[in-house]
Amino acid sequence: MKHLLKLADLSTEEIFSILNLADQLKYERKNGVPHPHLAGKKLGMIFTKSSTRTRVSFEVGMYELGGHALFLSDRDIQLGRGEPIKDTARVLSRYLDGIMIRTFDQQDVEDLAEYGSVPVINGLTDYCHPCQVLADLMTIREYKGSLKGLKLCFVGDGNNMANSLIVGGIKTGMKVSIACPDAYRPDAGVIAWAKENGELQITSDVLAAAEGADVLYTDVWASMGQESERQIREQAFKGFCIDDKVMAVADKEAMVLHCLPVHRGEEVTEKVFEAHAQEIFDEAENRLHAQKAVLCKLLK
Ligand code: CP
Ligand code: NVA
Repeated sequence: MKHLLKLADLSTEEIFSILNLADQLKYERKNGVPHPHLAGKKLGMIFTKSSTRTRVSFEVGMYELGGHALFLSDRDIQLGRGEPIKDTARVLSRYLDGIMIRTFDQQDVEDLAEYGSVPVINGLTDYCHPCQVLADLMTIREYKGSLKGLKLCFVGDGNNMANSLIVGGIKTGMKVSIACPDAYRPDAGVIAWAKENGELQITSDVLAAAEGADVLYTDVWASMGQESERQIREQAFKGFCIDDKVMAVADKEAMVLHCLPVHRGEEVTEKVFEAHAQEIFDEAENRLHAQKAVLCKLLK
């Protein structure tokens, strides 16, 4: 494993190896066992979109591993003024041991890896969010004991989260169902891959998708960069909400997860969200542990 650009690039063994290391690092942190595996290493963190969890968990994660993280907003670096990604890649590779990037176009992340000479980690693009899904898989395994055979249901926009959940879910042996409006289906390439490699159901019927689900997952109706579509999307996604009716058809022990930030009363009701807050904030915490594991695998 040289980079983390998308989950499709990882084998099932590599995913479980990251999850196992994440569990170990979480245990060590809880018990005050230092783990400076990345002493002296430097991670650059390029952001062309906002972030709370990704930024803080990567920065704290590098600190706890004995290394250092630099926050590079496109408002400050020359990338934001048009310096090409392939030049940015070659310059930053001379200073840093790894680069994390959050941006719009997946191609920019792939180009950064191609032109640079250090490991690149995708901290979210319009196409996928692999770091989030590694934390999600870790959380599901913590609560359910194992992943194989579970039914994971995503309700909402066929966006970056849906794409990564399909790939991560199927690679770890879960059955995946997606409830989305017809005009907002996940990436066609991801759907085609999933149909060849596992069980994927796509429907616009939320209750059919949620039937017997062990994990219900949702995300905002309008992602970063889609702010101007808010009104159209509010209409299109009406009813794509995890509420009591959805909970009633899912498994009695079903978990509810959300990558956050959440829009209460849109993709999930306040009541369902708060009833599952423990799981959701464990999930947010697990970003730290899962990413520390990724950093160790790539930068050590
Ligand atoms: N879930 C997630 O990636 O959160 P941030 O946008 O706050 O990083
Ligand atoms: N789909 C959301 C996820 C945020 C973590 C977005 O891209 O804005």
